[in-house]
Amino acid sequence: SATVLAACMFGSASAAELVVGFSQIGSESGWRAAETTVTKQEAEKRGVDLKFSDAQQKQENQIKALRSFVAQGVDAIFLAPVVETGWDDVLKEAKEAEIPVILLDRTIKAPDDLYLTAVTSDQVHEGKVAGEWLVKNAGDKKCNIVELQGTTGSSPAIARKKGFEEALAGHDNFKIVRSQTGDFTRAKGKEVMESFLKAENGGKDICALYAHNDDMAVGGIQAIKEAGLKPGKDILVVSIDAVPDIFQAMAAGEANATVELTPNMAGPAFDVLEAYLKDKKEPPKWIQTESKLYTPADDPMKVYEAKKGLGY
Ligand code: AHR
Repeated sequence: SATVLAACMFGSASAAELVVGFSQIGSESGWRAAETTVTKQEAEKRGVDLKFSDAQQKQENQIKALRSFVAQGVDAIFLAPVVETGWDDVLKEAKEAEIPVILLDRTIKAPDDLYLTAVTSDQVHEGKVAGEWLVKNAGDKKCNIVELQGTTGSSPAIARKKGFEEALAGHDNFKIVRSQTGDFTRAKGKEVMESFLKAENGGKDICALYAHNDDMAVGGIQAIKEAGLKPGKDILVVSIDAVPDIFQAMAAGEANATVELTPNMAGPAFDVLEAYLKDKKEPPKWIQTESKLYTPADDPMKVYEAKKGLGY
């Protein structure tokens, strides 16, 4: 097997140990850092030798990491793909080397025989849940929305925008007046929100902020406060991830809703991988994780405490 071969070639500790290469995007958000932590914990718990590679937001680094994993003869590859397109060639190389690839948390545009399965949320649904919350809770008045998008070309940025817009369809009082990427980071979220506030009468013409992740929402909240407005009241704040910090903001009345994304993509991924390598059991092409809506009615400080133990 690849493991035995790798053990002979590279002198790894045990021939029985599973070797998995993990190409992670980077550490742009609190959620991403938690996913990294959980993946490392899951690997350790299962006695898997995890080869971790941080791509620092660059697809070219991910492609290099994948090629290096193939050259090392790992047993499997976990890939959290930064963008949707441009993966076909390297995935074909992994396939030719008979190394199964599992996608974590983001989807790609490629023939599905190039990967074993994808463990992700329904990202269109996440956007829809966020939009439906807003439609239900902002009332009948005219509501100008500003949107902080995730990384350009990434599946969550594309899908969360789509789902949110679907929820607004037919509700003509809601309008997205500004929409720009904040790269899923807190700093860029703040910076872009500052420009939105300036462009929209110091924020007085904005009714709601929709951020594709909580980190950008937290940055946006800071910008709203610095502009002399009250986030959560003057400007409603809805986002995605459910990281601990957003629950602190909720408890302070500064955030209104978030849609949970579990950082534990690796648990289900290792489960199906182990079954596949042992018994050739083919998993479904999509393993969908849950998307739960949280609001201040959910006792935010209690959720905050509970979340702290889960890789955050
Ligand atoms: O792909 C998942 C997204 O990536 C998370 O929602 C965001 O925080 C992260 O950067």
